Amino acid sequence: MSVKKVAVLPGDGVGNDVIEAAFIVLERLEPEIEYEWGDIGWEFWKTEGDALPKRTVELLKRTDACLFGAITSKPKEECEAELIPELKGKGLVYRSPIVRLRQMFDLYINYRPCKAYKNNPLIYREGIDLHVFRENTEGLYSGVEFHPLPDDLRTAMNSHSPNMAKFDSSPGEDIAVSCRIFTRGSCRRIVRAAFEFADDKGYKSVTVVEKPNVVRETSGLMVREARKVARDFPGIELWETNVDAMCMWLLKNPHDYSVLVTSNMFGDIVSDLCAQLVGGLGFAASGNRGDSYALFEPTHGSAPKYAGMYKVNPIAMLISTCLMLDYVGQKELAEALEKAISDVIAEGKYRTYDMGGTSTTLEVAKAVASRL
Ligand code: IPM
Ligand code: MG
Repeated sequence: MSVKKVAVLPGDGVGNDVIEAAFIVLERLEPEIEYEWGDIGWEFWKTEGDALPKRTVELLKRTDACLFGAITSKPKEECEAELIPELKGKGLVYRSPIVRLRQMFDLYINYRPCKAYKNNPLIYREGIDLHVFRENTEGLYSGVEFHPLPDDLRTAMNSHSPNMAKFDSSPGEDIAVSCRIFTRGSCRRIVRAAFEFADDKGYKSVTVVEKPNVVRETSGLMVREARKVARDFPGIELWETNVDAMCMWLLKNPHDYSVLVTSNMFGDIVSDLCAQLVGGLGFAASGNRGDSYALFEPTHGSAPKYAGMYKVNPIAMLISTCLMLDYVGQKELAEALEKAISDVIAEGKYRTYDMGGTSTTLEVAKAVASRL
């Protein structure tokens, strides 16, 4: 097997803490991987006016996968205020680097496993085993937004939708529009990824989570494409739910569900709910995958107030590391790592503060490493 190249982007805030934890287990596992470290995050926004420097994009292009920590994003005014003087007033616009990377590398699957590990005091109920497939490149994250609403756009919208008439009395300045764009191909490929996963792992149903009764065109397209894809998987049932009801049912009967597939923003929301069912963001790992590249990250943020304190739970990062190992063909190491993580949780001796313990980020990682 050829040695795989993995880019490592710690980012900022607790991103550095959890990447350090990941390397404690990687150094123990010694997978056949060459690492190359890169720059991303708030520091580079402040000093270079871009949180995702071009050299980092080039780095990703010459690697097979990426291990990503966390990065800080701030509201518009603060972004401008923190730029170095030379960069102020140049009209630089901060856009989330992670969202840009997902789109730039066409990482259309955001896979988020949410599993209730035994003896984790934070889980909602035992036995929960959910797998969220979130469309990762379009929908409300398409970045097609307007404020104020331009006159020519209003005219075009008026001529295509009678429902626009109710906004006639509002000036453009008082209207903001964010487009929720779905393409047939993207609906199809995310649903197919969910079905292939269910097929591979032996799950008997895939639940498409949308809202086609109200958001008729976009959610409708997703559900119609899901029905078509489902025909190729006769052993797996397609269940259709509305996102609002789904949130209720996930709390009421979490064991009824296994593989969920949904669009970008609904997936963002539903995956946080699923994460909380199994212990919160400290357990929320993710793999952003495309056909030729993948980026693995814990879904917690950068929690700047905890940066460098080695306080946060590294488990989400360690599970993301398992997903990365699996992706680069180190399946056995990935399985060994997952077992070590699950054993450390079950043992209950090393727990970070969120789990009611006093262990540091690195102590938990060392406990995992010592079982490998
Ligand atoms: C996530 C996060 C991101 C998202 C943010 C940080 C842009 O919430 O990965 O779920 O909205 O996708
Ligand atoms: Mg989120």
